[in-house]
Amino acid sequence: MNAGEASRERTFCYQFADFIGVHEGIATTNGSSALTAALTAAGVGYGDEVLVPALVWVACASAVARIGAVPIMVDLDEETYAMDPVDAEGKITPRTVAILVTHLASSIADLDAFDAIARRHHLLLIEDCSQAHGAMWRGRRVGSFGSLAAFSFQSSKLLTAGEGGIVVTDDPDLARRAQHARADGREWAREQRSGFPDLIAGGAVQGHNHCMTEVQAAILSASLADLDHQNALRRTRVAYFESQLAGIDGVTTLRRRGDDRVDAETFWHLPVQINSECFGGQSAEEIRTAVSDDVRLYLEPVGLPLHRHLLYRPLLYRRFPPEHVAKLDTSCIDVPNSTRLAATCFTVPHHAFLGDTVSLDRLIDSIRRRQHRSEATP
Ligand SMILES: Cc1ncc(COP(=O)(O)O)c(C=O)c1O
Repeated sequence: MNAGEASRERTFCYQFADFIGVHEGIATTNGSSALTAALTAAGVGYGDEVLVPALVWVACASAVARIGAVPIMVDLDEETYAMDPVDAEGKITPRTVAILVTHLASSIADLDAFDAIARRHHLLLIEDCSQAHGAMWRGRRVGSFGSLAAFSFQSSKLLTAGEGGIVVTDDPDLARRAQHARADGREWAREQRSGFPDLIAGGAVQGHNHCMTEVQAAILSASLADLDHQNALRRTRVAYFESQLAGIDGVTTLRRRGDDRVDAETFWHLPVQINSECFGGQSAEEIRTAVSDDVRLYLEPVGLPLHRHLLYRPLLYRRFPPEHVAKLDTSCIDVPNSTRLAATCFTVPHHAFLGDTVSLDRLIDSIRRRQHRSEATP
């Protein structure tokens, strides 16, 4: 019910759309529902194929599978940790309708290449920016390149309200459909009248209730003002971290290094790659757990590529006929880079780069000691 002024939810939508540099924002309960709303608004449906990254949180693929479409796994580039446009183009079929271009661990996908592929094959480009809030490519924020973009505000993210999400777009028709997808078919009333409902019936698509609460929106509005400042601090700390790591053999950070199309790099998770040979054969996973325990900072495992991931189980759906379920079978997927990255990397979470350099020194020292320990062990 309207209280005589714009709801906090709607106010945050204006603020966030303005921050990204697009016209419309549609807040949702979380990033997964933002993805579902974006795909539904785009008209993606049963049997359509959508290109998704292979090494990512399960929601990218499960949001696609849930609406009856088929996620097709795209490999990562081994050096930048970004989605590989060459592998993506090779996986396009006559059934492909969209690319869910995702900026993995803040490594911005090559948006020039993905935009060109989308145009060449008449595909829709949808961005998933859940791991790169505030990043800029060629002077524009990520989220303003796709026809639609989704963000998550879950507790681990660079901008958070514990849970939350948003769809952004410049297209008024897609925005209206996304509103219907997230509010049981309703859209915001043009005129806000005290005591009258904020939402009115629309019915362009079958929606579900994924609306954001006022508390989430208030937290996000307040936090947004600090995001650029926090991202800048993280950049400074990552530069320090990398300068200190440079003295340790067999440790590399993966990001889009030296690419002048990136104007503002963000760091949600910084992937660190381990060459086990320089650590007496210790795996990245062994080093990750030992260092996490040592410095009491949870370094994140990368997890397996989705076709091997415990949480990606589309074959358990009981709503689709067998011929569709067969298309969701992941047994023949070939993503060698993602498989190698999963085995050799862990990631440092963004909050480690918001503190002082002393805690980073402890982290670096702990990694160094793992190497010395391996040298001391015959
Ligand atoms: C790239 C990506 N997409 C989507 C999601 C899903 O967001 P949520 O957890 O808010 O549903 C996540 C969450 O971790 C994510 O990292």
